[in-house]
Order: sequence, then structure tokens, then C-alpha cells
Amino acid sequence: MKTDILRQKFLDFFKSKKHKIVESDSLVPKDDPTVLFTPAGMNQFKRQFLGQITDFTRAATSQRCLRTDDLDKVGKTSGHHTFFEMLGNFSFGDYFKKEAISWAWEFLTGELKINPERLWVSVYKDDDEAYAIWKDVIKVPDKKIVKLGDKDNFWPSEAKAKGPNGPCGPCSEIFFDFGEGVGCGKAGCDPSCSCGRFVEIWNLVFTQFNRKEGGILEPLPQKNIDTGLGLERLAAVMQNAANNFETDLFQPIIKE
Ligand code: ALA
Repeated sequence: MKTDILRQKFLDFFKSKKHKIVESDSLVPKDDPTVLFTPAGMNQFKRQFLGQITDFTRAATSQRCLRTDDLDKVGKTSGHHTFFEMLGNFSFGDYFKKEAISWAWEFLTGELKINPERLWVSVYKDDDEAYAIWKDVIKVPDKKIVKLGDKDNFWPSEAKAKGPNGPCGPCSEIFFDFGEGVGCGKAGCDPSCSCGRFVEIWNLVFTQFNRKEGGILEPLPQKNIDTGLGLERLAAVMQNAANNFETDLFQPIIKE
């Protein structure tokens, strides 16, 4: 499936779930001094997460992103780029964990028909609610739900200890298993291993805190959802490609 079709399918899916489709923000944010470039879909919605803008409560975007932190990884991994697109659905005090998890699963396995056997998930170590939804509602087997800590399953990563200040929360990630033949080959390999066999494709953030100076996590007046599905990684999965560079996004450029 071509990447342009994937992007449109994502936006149409969330439009059918009553989301307002919002244009990608500029790659250089106009009025956010905390970042040089737009690093994630949620960036243009910070004021909605804080409850300062309330004209709509559900949004979906395909956001053009640049992460300065990623630049050193480009060319060393098959899944980091100087520029990428993040598909995202957002709830500002509207739906929360159950809908976010159910719709992500429905989109991947129902709409795109990805084999559920190839999907694993992670949850924040203390997030029993998200764990129970994956296990009891979605019926993901226990052994494919991995519990991880502040570095992997809190967004922004390690925000409690390191910041930045602002909206943050525990997250749950969905991984695609590229198969036993890829990566370290160890028997116990799972999404906590960085060998490349398991690639994170979608991050669901349960944005329920506002981090204040000194690492104080103040509960937000409203509970929010912020998700990010990597378009290039999804394209690799859907095109049966070994990595992002083998997809229709990069091949014409590489061939030229
Ligand atoms: N904001 C989250 C991320 O970038 C979805 O991973």
C-alpha cells in the first residue's frame, strides 16, 4: 500500500471517529520557544492539553517533524531520519485510554489488516489500567505485553526527572515484530531489546500531568490523549520492506 494512501486512510479513519482533521503545523514553530523544530504532532496542541483552548476536543494530523536528538542515529538505525511524518490522533479532555487503545488496534488490525500475531505492546510499569485494557479488552496475550519504565514508557522520556516542563504522562507503545531472522536472535528477545527485531510503530501517550519546576507532576484538570504513529515505519510494515529506506518514500530518490 502506497504511503500517500496510508496517510489518507489514517485521517479518514479518525474523521469517522469524529476527529477534526488539522493541517500539519510549520516545521519551525511560530510561537514555541522551547523547541527549535516541531518534534511531534502534539506540539501545536499544547494549549489545548492545558485546557486553554477548548473549541474542539478531538483532532487528527499528519505532522512533519524534525528531532535534533535523532540526527546522530540517522544511518546507524533503519528507522531514524532527518525528517519524518507523524500520524496522530488527539483527545483534549474527551476520550481516554480505552478508546485510544481500541482505535489504534482497530486501525492496524481491522483497517490495515496487519496480522495481530506480529504485534507486541508495552505499558508503563505502574499503569495497571492500560495493562488491563490490552489484556482483557483487546485480548493480547500476557507474554506480549511488556512493562517498561520512565525512559521507554513515559513521554517525554524521563520527563519526571529531566523535564521539560509541560504536558506529559505514561505511554503505551505498539511494536511490529520483523521476525526471528532479524536482530540479535536471542530466545528472550522482546520489545525491550534494541536489536532492531521489534520496531516501535505507534506511541499512545496518556497526557494527564503538567510537569512543573522541580519535577512536580501536577494532575491536569482534564485527561488527554496524544498519539504518534510513524508514517515511514508503517509504510515499511505495509510494503513488506526490510526497513524504511526500502519503501516508496525513499526508493525513487535513492534510484535517482
Ligand atoms: N508525542 C508522542 C511521541 O512523540 C506521541 O512519541
